[in-house]
Amino acid sequence: MDLTKAILERRSIRAFRPDPIPREKIEEILRLSIRAPSGINLQPWEFVIVTGEEKERLSRTLIKAYREKKISCGPDAVRPLPKTFGKRGAKTLEGMRPFFEEMKVSPEQYINEGSCQFYGAPVVILICLDDAFSKSRLLDIGALLGYLVLAAHESGLGTCPIGLITAYEEEIKDLLNIPDNKRVVIGLALGHPDWESPINRFKSDREDLDNMVRWV
Ligand SMILES: Cc1cc2nc3c(=O)[nH]c(=O)nc-3n(C[C@H](O)[C@H](O)[C@H](O)COP(=O)(O)O)c2cc1C
Repeated sequence: MDLTKAILERRSIRAFRPDPIPREKIEEILRLSIRAPSGINLQPWEFVIVTGEEKERLSRTLIKAYREKKISCGPDAVRPLPKTFGKRGAKTLEGMRPFFEEMKVSPEQYINEGSCQFYGAPVVILICLDDAFSKSRLLDIGALLGYLVLAAHESGLGTCPIGLITAYEEEIKDLLNIPDNKRVVIGLALGHPDWESPINRFKSDREDLDNMVRWV
């Protein structure tokens, strides 16, 4: 697939079909994504792939933790955000609203509980980083994530990065025996998109480049 086409077509998928994905296909996507650049080629990422009954257990654990702690999807800012950024998030949620209305679901519940269940995807990829690394290595994880979502798209699968689950990192680590010194940086839902679901028709837009660029 042409790269421009893949970049333009890809979107986050928020309803998946349960059909399992063969291990070889997951490995093929991971092999492509680890071609991502990283500082001094450290390739600091580590993956935990969760499927089958373990994935169901993980979803149940996350839903329980969400219902207890009520930490929701949000910008996770350390200070009030400049208005421009807040507006972009609000606009994205507004854009999703008609699809949620069609589905007769509450947007907040669908997004938060859906994220905790990886929107029904049969495969969860947790990307971990050893805590010996500094914060700068999160850049490498970001680059990897970009490659991963495009490689999956090219192979006909859908993805949704799930940042919400990092609020429940302790529960995840306990359940999956992830050592204390590994940070769970991001989760990724992976599977066949359910194209019957209205929410998958939603396509987020982007600001004008002019609002993001200053030429010097
Ligand atoms: C680091 C990161 C964390 C994200 N976390 C979530 C999440 O917890 N739940 C969710 O539904 N989408 C999540 N997303 C998906 C974003 O909402 C999505 O990428 C954004 O709205 C742009 O839409 P697009 O991916 O369809 O282009 C996350 C994306 C990134 C990059």
